[in-house]
Amino acid sequence: LKLGDGFLWGCATSAHQVEGNNVASDWWEWEQTRPDLCAEPSGDACDHYHLYGQDMAILRALGFNCYRFSVEWARIEPEKGLVSRAALDHYKRMLDEAHRLGLVTILTLHHFTSPRWATRAGGFTDIGVKDAFKRYLELVARELGGMSEYFTPINEPNIVALAGYRMGTFPPGKATKEDRRAATAAFCELHGFARDAIKASNPAARVGLSLSMTDYQPMPGAEDRVARIREIMEDVYLASARGDDFIGVQCYTRDRVPPSGVLPPDPERPLTEMGYETYPEALGACIRRAHAATGLPVLVTENGIAPVGDDDEVRIAFVRRALAEVARAIQEGLPVWGYVYWSLLDNFEWNLGYRPRFGLVAVDRSSQRRVIKRSAVELGAIALRNELPDEIG
Ligand code: BGC
Repeated sequence: LKLGDGFLWGCATSAHQVEGNNVASDWWEWEQTRPDLCAEPSGDACDHYHLYGQDMAILRALGFNCYRFSVEWARIEPEKGLVSRAALDHYKRMLDEAHRLGLVTILTLHHFTSPRWATRAGGFTDIGVKDAFKRYLELVARELGGMSEYFTPINEPNIVALAGYRMGTFPPGKATKEDRRAATAAFCELHGFARDAIKASNPAARVGLSLSMTDYQPMPGAEDRVARIREIMEDVYLASARGDDFIGVQCYTRDRVPPSGVLPPDPERPLTEMGYETYPEALGACIRRAHAATGLPVLVTENGIAPVGDDDEVRIAFVRRALAEVARAIQEGLPVWGYVYWSLLDNFEWNLGYRPRFGLVAVDRSSQRRVIKRSAVELGAIALRNELPDEIG
């Protein structure tokens, strides 16, 4: 399937996962103080803070035309009210460099991490933190709003609300239903605020909510249960995306949901290093659902796999099958604007540390040398041809 010229072929990273030494952030502190929940500290990560030029050049040379990355609130405002001009300038240089290379950018303003001071004050359920975040959004929209074509302001708010406010595995480590509900409401409000702030600065910017979606498959009798799960995980956010320019779909697997309990992954299918079932077909269902719920064009802002043992052949097969889903959706008439693979680099996978490897490019973290995997070349070539495989067994 030959695609239109504007189709976005990208890879994504996020600041904390690749930059290194993000010492003013809540996650840095979490890694130091919660070894029970964190496999290892992020440390230097991929030193992308310094090596971004080289990494973007690799991305471009592989054949991609788009880079999704995030700016770090904890660097821009390391203490409440203290704005680092130098950090803002750093991100301006990144955006300039991306464009100089011919890459379109998708900019995220919050990807899981907050400054320590914000999390100590209670996180997003605290009214003062919400107000501080609004001021940060206004600042970043003013300074950087005109410098990126696309924005996904808050990355996967549903995952932060779940892990940070209901399960207690992400900062701020809260774990009640009320906290999750309050965080969910806060994120929905803040998403709209961010969209308005960006549009005020750059009416031409395209803004979309980036949502972690799962292909929830109800077993007989579990329709109501799935509806309840979807309500708090997806539907409330899909509703707050009305008024956006696109919906950012981020999808990794499916969940088969029986009326009670949790069904383990299908033993017929291999697990990923994350423990998920390898199920690339989930992407098609999530694209359809996101579009049906919002009426918006879809941009796949994350999709990818960390195969067991980093078996790159498994990654190649996964991506080709996921792309076949994109092709099918487009053939059905759905507007799909692009496909962004997670991730450009092997990086810091939150609680699990560096073990799961999602990257198209490996990183030897003792030398910071980059090693290009075959999957990078394969996907880059597809991007360059601008053609989607329509059926792969
Ligand atoms: C997140 C990334 C994460 C990836 C793989 C997404 O939920 O946005 O930060 O690394 O999934 O687990």
